Amino acid sequence: MIDKNLEYAVVPIAGLGTRMLPATKSIPKEMLPIFDTPVIQHVVEEIKSAGFSKIIFITHSSKNAIGNHFDKSFELEATLEKRIKRSQLKEIKNISDKEIDLLYVRQGEALGLGHAIKCASTIVGKKPFAVVLPDRVLDKYNCNQEEDNLAKLKKHFLKNKKNCFLVSEVPQSDVNKFGIIKPKEISDKFIIVEKIIEKPSKNEAPSNLASVGRYIFTADIFDHIPDKPSGKSKEIELTDAMQDLIDAKHEIHAITSKGQYFDCGDKVGYFEAFISFAYKDNKLGDILKNLTREILE
Ligand code: UTP
Repeated sequence: MIDKNLEYAVVPIAGLGTRMLPATKSIPKEMLPIFDTPVIQHVVEEIKSAGFSKIIFITHSSKNAIGNHFDKSFELEATLEKRIKRSQLKEIKNISDKEIDLLYVRQGEALGLGHAIKCASTIVGKKPFAVVLPDRVLDKYNCNQEEDNLAKLKKHFLKNKKNCFLVSEVPQSDVNKFGIIKPKEISDKFIIVEKIIEKPSKNEAPSNLASVGRYIFTADIFDHIPDKPSGKSKEIELTDAMQDLIDAKHEIHAITSKGQYFDCGDKVGYFEAFISFAYKDNKLGDILKNLTREILE
């Protein structure tokens, strides 16, 4: 049952993907395939499984391929029907099913993740909402997406009504790539967060617990998103808004994610996700493993 109080998931896709150049010069990074499925489709499936009914994409003129991907393709469907390719036809029809509403808001200028999220405020109004970063992909093979991770976060929010997000341990050498938390209180179910620092240096990092790009916020967050870029990144950061919420005495909870997650906005993380999903594919996984062994020999 979809809860009407938590129906929106905001997915920001307006970034330029400079870390993935040259692949992303004219292809949105969210359309790069993890094995045979675009990154964005994995993320939309995760959101559907967690029981959200509306996705708001915060988008940019260079990202039209994403909207096209989720549109019905009459020509392709007619061709697959004529060639009696039933399983492919079913797969293609599922991509554009109407199980979930897809809404699009343009972010005129890529001023940062915080700014992108604020662009959703006219649609979500006073309702709580999830934020799902599409370049962070959670390993669907090592969790149950109807119960773990985003679904668990949703359940936690509906019970506790506190802003919350998923974290995962990262190697100490990688803390400068993520938003890192300083825990205040740790229980077996969740962590009350004292601080969140965007991309701290290894010496500054208060822990190795990093945000993995899955959040649930009340509409209060909009009042804490700065109007102007600040800090070393020169972007309007979501982490600054979260810290401001904490400073204004709002409790934020962190929950540890289940299974591996991949930073697909980065070449190494993308490669890791691609290989991992390819090897676990039901039909081709074993063939691909053997092929790799042969290549490496
Ligand atoms: P990133 O900083 O990882 O994405 O933002 P980017 O800017 O595309 O990446 P690089 O550093 O140039 O390679 C995290 C998410 O927030 C979105 C991005 O599309 C990505 O999904 N984003 C970021 C926006 O929608 N708008 C922005 O202004 C910035």
